[in-house]
Amino acid sequence: MQEKLMEKFKEVFGAGGDIRVYFAPGRVNLIGEHTDYNGGHVFPCALTIGTYGAVRKREDKTLRFYSMNFEQLGVLESSVEGLKPEKEADWTNYPKGVMWAFGEKGMKVEQGMDLLLFGNIPNGSGLSSSASVEVLTGYILKDLFGFDVTNQDLALIGQYSENKFNGVNCGIMDQFAIAMGKKDHAIFLDTATLAYEYAPIHLAGAKIVISCTNKKRGLGDSKYNERRSECETALAEIQETVGVNALGDLTEEQFEQYRKAIRDEVRQKRAKHAVYENQRTLKAVEALKNNDVKKFGELMNASHVSLRDDYEVTGVELDTMVEEAWKIDGVIGSRMTGAGFGGCTVSIVKDEAVDTFIREVGKAYEEKIGYAGDFYVVEIGDGPARLA
Ligand code: GLA
Repeated sequence: MQEKLMEKFKEVFGAGGDIRVYFAPGRVNLIGEHTDYNGGHVFPCALTIGTYGAVRKREDKTLRFYSMNFEQLGVLESSVEGLKPEKEADWTNYPKGVMWAFGEKGMKVEQGMDLLLFGNIPNGSGLSSSASVEVLTGYILKDLFGFDVTNQDLALIGQYSENKFNGVNCGIMDQFAIAMGKKDHAIFLDTATLAYEYAPIHLAGAKIVISCTNKKRGLGDSKYNERRSECETALAEIQETVGVNALGDLTEEQFEQYRKAIRDEVRQKRAKHAVYENQRTLKAVEALKNNDVKKFGELMNASHVSLRDDYEVTGVELDTMVEEAWKIDGVIGSRMTGAGFGGCTVSIVKDEAVDTFIREVGKAYEEKIGYAGDFYVVEIGDGPARLA
């Protein structure tokens, strides 16, 4: 892949100078959905698919961007001076946002660069192609200019740029999973404190299969912000009765006790999901520690039901994908992953059932939805790295 990128870089921007190549992964969340902005736990892992970037510093302040995924856009130009949060439609908002965010944190980018990207994460699939670009950009800035930042800082800067520059009030999960990724491990992260633990994922005799609905998120970002504010309101209502910092602080029993303090039924359901999903995540990690993959799978299934019925972020595409998966012998667990409203599902499937899974779920999905899904058997990979 490095060679392919180098070659394209030279073709687009010209040869010569110090051209460097980097990689940052995408991520999949195994369980703990819509808990990361509710002070709860998440359990994601980095993937071996992600975003590659080739870059060369410039002597002036010009930024030139080129994406091999959006070749029709050609070279897009900008400058490191005057980067402002503004709503623009193209992908360069992500790297620009991170450069802007470094400046906000006292690390001003003074020199321009030529940057060429290639991603093998399907766009808009809910595998965090945007967070991957953010962490990649941060990692490049650190390496090119010697900024003193840890990978955890890169996660926080990426989230800050997405919140403030791109207007999506996302939590910390995606950037953290990507920046801190570790091969064959998932990250058990407490989003309230950022305390985390790596959990080895040894799925003896089973694989992680990602099923992509090919339904783009579209309105997802505004719905995402809506869910977030519903949870904030529900928390404020509970806080009138009892002193808690976040929905993630509550057990199921405590929630049921204070539930009526939330003055709207829809908000009660949203908050219920946040509380129960956090508890499910704790139980799932415990199950995995005890090598109880079956239990882990059941909790994944319950997570989907809650996202479908209480949080209402699935839709017919994700539901079809998951409900068809549940019918297949050898499926240990299956649920939507990421923000929802489209994107992907994650399933744990026994080795011998993978082919049947892809064939049968694929067939049923296409029949019902009218277009095909895509299926990927994925591996858990490391965080960002310089490749050349
Ligand atoms: C998106 C956000 C994350 C998280 C998930 C839902 O991926 O970027 O912060 O909230 O949705 O779990």
